[in-house]
Amino acid sequence: MSDELDVVEKIALYDQLLLEVKGLVSGESDLIANLANISAAIHYRMDFWWTGFYFAKGKELVLGPFQGPVACTRIEFDRGVCGKTWAGKKTTIVPDVHLFPGHIACNAVSNSEIVLPIFNKENEVAMVLDIDSEHVNTFDETDQSYLEKICRIISDLL
Ligand code: SME
Repeated sequence: MSDELDVVEKIALYDQLLLEVKGLVSGESDLIANLANISAAIHYRMDFWWTGFYFAKGKELVLGPFQGPVACTRIEFDRGVCGKTWAGKKTTIVPDVHLFPGHIACNAVSNSEIVLPIFNKENEVAMVLDIDSEHVNTFDETDQSYLEKICRIISDLL
């Protein structure tokens, strides 16, 4: 998403995205199929650089469905933005990845990032949603609020 996109336009896109995601999951029960389509819906509607899921498996996050360039397949607990989001159980917004200690650079083009936890019924982090932008300062409270709504929709599928 370009830095210039104003908040009104962003909200309109997210409102459409939310409807699309609800529609996608309403007709399908398979988790991987739904995550694959949700990653594509977010990625292409919002024009992000990389959009995908990592599953919490043992002490690692393992790459799941995504859109964008090839990415790291495994991330340790409490490592990188994804691992720290898993450990902290809260959304992480990184305005400039080059200033985040321990950031894992899967691709040099990424400049800002948001990672959101997705909880199972036991309130454990089952997976994270990771989104990268090629611009700095892409993600704000609007992104966080809408993407957390999408993560709650996914939680309800678990
Ligand atoms: N930057 C992430 C790694 C995953 S890639 O961005 C797809 C991190 O620091 O955890």
